[in-house]
Amino acid sequence: MNVMTRLATAVSLASLFPFAALAADAKGTVEVVHWWTSGGEAAAVKVLRELVEKEGFTWKDGAVAGGAGSAAMTVLKTRVVSGNPPGAAQIKGPDLQEWGALDLLAPLDEVAQANGWDGLLSKTVVRTMQYDGQYVAVPVNIHRVNWLWINPQVFEKAGIDQAPTTLEELYAAGDKLKAAGFIPLAHGGQPWQDGTLFEGLVLSVMGAEGYHKAFVEIDEATLVSPQMTEVFTALKKLSTYMDDNRAGRDWNLATAQVIDGKAGMQIMGDWAKSEWTAAGKVAGKDYQCVPMPGTAGSYTYNIDSVAMFKLNSPDDIAAQHALARIALEPEFQYVFNQNKGSIPVRSDLDMSQFDSCAQASMRDFQEADKNGKLEPSMAHSMATNLAVQGAIFDVVTNFMSEKNADPSKAGAQIYAAIKAAQ
Ligand code: BGC
Repeated sequence: MNVMTRLATAVSLASLFPFAALAADAKGTVEVVHWWTSGGEAAAVKVLRELVEKEGFTWKDGAVAGGAGSAAMTVLKTRVVSGNPPGAAQIKGPDLQEWGALDLLAPLDEVAQANGWDGLLSKTVVRTMQYDGQYVAVPVNIHRVNWLWINPQVFEKAGIDQAPTTLEELYAAGDKLKAAGFIPLAHGGQPWQDGTLFEGLVLSVMGAEGYHKAFVEIDEATLVSPQMTEVFTALKKLSTYMDDNRAGRDWNLATAQVIDGKAGMQIMGDWAKSEWTAAGKVAGKDYQCVPMPGTAGSYTYNIDSVAMFKLNSPDDIAAQHALARIALEPEFQYVFNQNKGSIPVRSDLDMSQFDSCAQASMRDFQEADKNGKLEPSMAHSMATNLAVQGAIFDVVTNFMSEKNADPSKAGAQIYAAIKAAQ
């Protein structure tokens, strides 16, 4: 029985009991479960909180620390099973379909129609936010995952004059950084961070088409191909540029190593930029953002979205609707995304108010979309359900922690692990 089946069984029991009414207050409360707890992320989510509170609603913060949200998702499932869902939670990608199928999410079509969401959002986004033709979540942003972050001062000290654009150039930069006494690649040894690196390498070695076959189609021939052996060989090589103390390190602490000039680079989605912004650093001057080497022209997307759970209290439902409406209004979209490192999810905003990394991200998003090179991020829950993602993470993380792991066997291990999880 997988997690969602267990959840479905438990939920049908829990639904025999009415959900506990939340504390009564003047204009309703919305409790929001999310995992935006790093300095930069907290600054971003504060914008939403303030706008909701400005309208007189009460915000109950349900932050659960842990990059990429697996801890938050565990807490969410436990709460729902015990009949105590929050009003709102960050839920993403195909997982929205699984929650939708359990009939627990509140439809947001009333808010969507009143505010013209269909006309504001791209088709890819609308498809992800709807279950059975109805909006069940509001998107807040678009993150790009295939980025390389660079500290140019460290590069200069190591005698590197250009950002790497291929894996060979990445290794060459790594060698120079190592020789100059820096950590070449800042990394945190956590499954989702390993998975982020892995998907970047799949995109780099196989291109958007191969990436799509591997993670969207779960195509066996692609997963066990010689190219996948190349990916794992590259992963092994990249680990030689990381420091030995990386086990368990949070992503934002890895970012801090680059900001502080201890490390030269980090491969991470653009929430990493939120830490540079919070540290008062300027894109293009204090740091550089370039596509993960070998992936220029392709774009792995990661859309953050907030889903609402069915509640009984009309006041609390009003608070949920206010949150959903505010999340797509320009005022929120500008300030939240400037803090979060992402780009607005609506395409009609003035990008001159954003830094050069965000402008490049928006351009590349539209270009990749036109050219069929826009792909959902596997590591950030946009391509598969969480069980399949977990199976991939297990193999990748084991591979990275085993010195003698064989790159030519890992693809077949992934395929077998996915099949067992499905
Ligand atoms: C989320 C981001 C978050 C990052 C680190 C990603 O999966 O989409 O919003 O900042 O994880 O926790």
